[in-house]
Amino acid sequence: MIEELNNYNFLTENDNLLLKTYNLGFEKKQILIIVVNREKSLNAVNIDILKSLVNILKHVKNDSNILSIILTGAGTKAFIAGADIKSMSTYDPEDAYKYSVLGQDLVKLINSFHKPIIAAVNGYALGGGCEIASACHLRYASENSIFGQPEVKLGIIAGWGGTVNLKRLIGVGNATKLLISGDTINCDEALKMGLVNMVFPLENFLSLVIKEVKRFCQNSPNAIKNTLFSINSSNDDESYRTESDLFRDSFKHEDSRIGISAFLRKEKPKFK
Ligand code: CAA
Repeated sequence: MIEELNNYNFLTENDNLLLKTYNLGFEKKQILIIVVNREKSLNAVNIDILKSLVNILKHVKNDSNILSIILTGAGTKAFIAGADIKSMSTYDPEDAYKYSVLGQDLVKLINSFHKPIIAAVNGYALGGGCEIASACHLRYASENSIFGQPEVKLGIIAGWGGTVNLKRLIGVGNATKLLISGDTINCDEALKMGLVNMVFPLENFLSLVIKEVKRFCQNSPNAIKNTLFSINSSNDDESYRTESDLFRDSFKHEDSRIGISAFLRKEKPKFK
């Protein structure tokens, strides 16, 4: 499906992102499809990808031909399996703080965006992947999708708005359970909880999502813009600040070294 779409006319120097467009068939209007393309690492998101996503969205803000954006992952196994744990293994607390703030810049930009941004979750949406999906205006999931916030198993906390946005979507109780258990849930549980809006078969998943998104593109862009603004106008600045401060603090604690190195050795962590 991706191969059949047109290339988007914006030069991203980042090989880990593919930008495609779907023509809506009227007045040159399009849907932009952003694909995180790091399949071998299950589309884990590193600093460069975060920065490029922010740059692309800032550009698209002024492109009146793009009416909506779909964010998805390459392949059929993962949407985004989280922040890049391999790079995080070298981070000191200040690096971790910057990584958290950068991820929060992205999720805040997504959440406050004036055109609908839809997460097409095609597999694992874990940690930062679940946080990016949660910041999107809608989440459509394939039937193999798996959601979770496993940061506590790495000895750290969610750092890209998970402690802020999840509770808005699924309530404090469900958010707390996901965030402190590190449990994963499948698409049916996610649908029941309100974490996803709809579930589609994996076969032709992107086409089915596009078909659904096309329907919104018939509506007034101005009315959609104002609706999104009104829904998402809460001021969560203090909560975001608390989260990034505590994300930094988790890198001062030995549990982060125990958890992250256990993941890299493919072992279970033994916290003291
Ligand atoms: N970062 C970096 N690499 C990752 C990754 C991640 N988040 N997730 C998977 N990978 C890599 C694996 O290390 C592996 O690489 P190698 O082939 O070089 O060993 C490759 O992707 C394939 O992964 P697995 O072999 O582990 O595949 P699997 O099918 O056995 O398991 C999985 C899949 C359950 C998703 C497992 O990969 C996993 O648990 N990944 C980590 C998920 C996670 O903890 N995410 C949260 C990250 S922290 C975070 O996001 C913080 C924040 O809030 C900002």
